[in-house]
Amino acid sequence: MTIAVERDTGSNNAVPNARKKIGIPKEIYPGECRVAATPTTVKVLQKQGFEVLIEQSAGETANFSDRAYENVNCQILPNAAALWEQADIILKVRPPQPEEVDRLPEKKTIISFIWPAQNGELLDKLAERQATVLAMDAIPRISRAQKLDALSSMANIAGYRAVIEAANQFGRFFTGQITAAGKVPPAKVMIIGAGVAGLAAIGAARSLGAVVRAFDTRPAVKEQVQSLGAEFLELEFAEDGTGSGGYAKTMSKEFIAAEMALFAQQAKDVDIIITTALIPGKKAPLLITQEMVDNMKPGSVVVDLAAEQGGNCEVTRPNEIYQHNGVTIIGLTDLPSRMAAQSSQLYGTNLCHLLKDMGGAEDYKVNLEDEVIRGALVLKEGEVTWPPPQKPAPVNTQKAPTTPAPQPAKVAEDKKPSKMVWVWLGLAGLTLLGIGLGAPASFLSHFMVFVLSCFVGWQVIWNVTPALHTPLMSVTNAISGIVILGGMLQISGSLTSATTILGAMAIVVATINIAGGFLVSQRMLNMFQK
Ligand code: NAI
Repeated sequence: MTIAVERDTGSNNAVPNARKKIGIPKEIYPGECRVAATPTTVKVLQKQGFEVLIEQSAGETANFSDRAYENVNCQILPNAAALWEQADIILKVRPPQPEEVDRLPEKKTIISFIWPAQNGELLDKLAERQATVLAMDAIPRISRAQKLDALSSMANIAGYRAVIEAANQFGRFFTGQITAAGKVPPAKVMIIGAGVAGLAAIGAARSLGAVVRAFDTRPAVKEQVQSLGAEFLELEFAEDGTGSGGYAKTMSKEFIAAEMALFAQQAKDVDIIITTALIPGKKAPLLITQEMVDNMKPGSVVVDLAAEQGGNCEVTRPNEIYQHNGVTIIGLTDLPSRMAAQSSQLYGTNLCHLLKDMGGAEDYKVNLEDEVIRGALVLKEGEVTWPPPQKPAPVNTQKAPTTPAPQPAKVAEDKKPSKMVWVWLGLAGLTLLGIGLGAPASFLSHFMVFVLSCFVGWQVIWNVTPALHTPLMSVTNAISGIVILGGMLQISGSLTSATTILGAMAIVVATINIAGGFLVSQRMLNMFQK
């Protein structure tokens, strides 16, 4: 006979251990199509020891039928009231809506997006219910927590979908084509902000064949942008936008003015602008003015991902797609919900990782010592625990920077040759003079050929693009240089002599080798450039 024993975790944060039940309600926020668990993630939760309950038709808008949940032994409850009553831990996507808070029994745990900075009133109401609440949007962005990072999962989808929405409104191909009916130029896309959403947008636009340019205040993303096949736009302005925690910092007014001048220039040239610039907790910076939009070509598209935070574009209308002087402005704020099956799957997986880190059903614990859990915890049994205590900032031993002034990024170096160079040149000159005075005439002619071939060989190798400085290329060019010189010295006799003919042939073949090498290198380089 098996006797069920209630384990004491020794923590008053632990949910009572008898039969941990996870509840998945249907999202009631207007237009929200996502669901907090898919049949696949339900199986993972069950493996962790949880029993999973789901409200009837909760997954319908994300294309997961009740039957699919039943097939993975998920208990379907007929209404929200029953679910909220029975579940210990409630997994949601959107922050609880007022009517949901009203029906929330006391001492439940809720895990969902909360946006605690903007939703103080919601926190107070949940506190009255003595709820324990973890905000998925407050998970710290550290490497260990990447698998729980729901903001990144959603931003990734939003970036991809932004390109799809733009393509839907843009009346042309993204890729360039040469057809019998004529040549079609590729679409030019500029992406502002190369964070998670920006990089996903670059990947999607490139895979559709567009020419993509991207700008970000953090120079560290340059390589990521280039590795996705986009051009990284740069400013001649020495200011680094790298902030703490993987996010950006607010830039100086001068920098913003400089980048806006760049965008004004680009707006006249590109067909699509996708803006994703944001500093967490701040209003989105205004980067695209009405004038820039007016200067865009008719038929162009602007997608403003930061619409919900005030928008990066002056004429954005949140939640709307409309025409402004022939330019389509997309201010949708529900892009992940428009790919509900995909986003539910990724969000559900983030939740599974979080619950696993919290110990699964067996050792479930809200561990305040865990930096990730502490970061996400906004309410603990009714007590407001947000914002989490700040770690002491590392002591900066350097002087505080003064207000940065515009300055060229690269300062010309002092190129004056040092005294030692003159000494070495003098010594080399004296050595050559000594050889010239003392050596026999036969040696001198060979020596002359040697010096000249070194000179020509050096020049030939020096002009090869550094990326192609393979030993093979360098050596063959050097040898060809020597062959040409040798040939030139041999063709001074009679035109019909075998020496002259062979010398001429050597010159022709070696020249073909050098010129062909350069042509082939250039073609190879062109293959990597748009
Ligand atoms: P992130 O923090 O990873 O990226 C933002 C990027 O903007 C950073 O790389 C930062 O360096 C850059 N940035 C900041 N200030 C800038 C400036 N002045 N100029 C150029 N670049 C600047 O953020 P993530 O996760 O990629 O999200 C991007 C945006 O997408 C956010 O506004 C987010 O709220 C939004 N979003 C929108 C959704 C929608 O449905 N519309 C869904 C999900 C996210």
